[in-house]
Amino acid sequence: DWTMAAYRAAAVETIRAQVGEGRVICGLSGGVDSSVAAVLIHEAIGDRLTCVFVDHGLMRAGEADEVVSLFRGHYNIPLVHVDASDTFLAALEGVTDPEVKRKTIGKLFIDVFEAEAKKIGGADFLAQGTLYPDVIESVSFTGGPSVTIKSHHNVGGLPDRMAMKLVEPLRELFKDEVRKLGRELGLTDAFVGRHPFPGPGLAIRIPGAITREKLDILRKADTIYLDEIRKAGLYDAIWQAFAVLLPVQTVGVMGDGRTYDSVCALRAVTSVDGMTADFYPFDMAFLGRAATRIINEVKGINRVVYDVTSKPPGTIEWE
Ligand code: XMP
Repeated sequence: DWTMAAYRAAAVETIRAQVGEGRVICGLSGGVDSSVAAVLIHEAIGDRLTCVFVDHGLMRAGEADEVVSLFRGHYNIPLVHVDASDTFLAALEGVTDPEVKRKTIGKLFIDVFEAEAKKIGGADFLAQGTLYPDVIESVSFTGGPSVTIKSHHNVGGLPDRMAMKLVEPLRELFKDEVRKLGRELGLTDAFVGRHPFPGPGLAIRIPGAITREKLDILRKADTIYLDEIRKAGLYDAIWQAFAVLLPVQTVGVMGDGRTYDSVCALRAVTSVDGMTADFYPFDMAFLGRAATRIINEVKGINRVVYDVTSKPPGTIEWE
């Protein structure tokens, strides 16, 4: 694709001009966006880039390993793996408000990046895989008065006291363009085709207070749901699919016993850019299979519901 080849060359030049002889720290989330940003910046400035993967304890099952092996094994890009889960989970303890969750997580990410920058003798820039829709959605909602719907964890700039400046080479791109750029940079179709995963992770898929126990339950349900989606050959037809663990318990019956466990909501949407979305019209047999497996295999869940809300009026994530 010649337009992406040209975009790649231009972006590399822009990064070189902005960074000069400086050092860059890039926050990797495991998603496509930050990975594409990292590979692009590595092409531009080589070893003056250090990637930092922050495990905030809010990842899906297996996520951390996949990212670390891709970067260390395949690309040979220096990568620091920080396990900050205790810090993040302690700061989130008892937090129920979605915006407070998001802001707490955003601030802690910055703290970790600053600490890692110090360890490598200082960095001049912080790189992020911010996309155009992230910017728009965090700033205002089109058509009405300027209202923040959600504060994306990586939008809003850096605190004034910080010496680091931002490098955001994808800030003008939409998701489909980032995927094209990723392919142009040699990322595999499987990696580039991954569903988006939000920086705040599972924190915004557990309405109410987050606990390690709820995170474990949600991870198990999410893994089964995605496994069924892959088996049905539907992964690539869906923009994003995930499970949500509701702060509601309901009565059920299993064997001869009464259960009183949590409700799990399943979400799947189609979309072009994440700005609008339609719920995915699964057939009932698929939903029944996924629900049966989740209830049978995940202790703590005894009821499964499917979210049939499009965006607008819903948003894709629940918080
Ligand atoms: P919403 O829920 O606003 O989500 O309809 C639109 C898309 O953005 C993702 N999302 C985020 N991504 N940091 C991110 O990197 C965030 O704070 C964030 N919040 C939402 C969401 O998963 C969906 O793909």
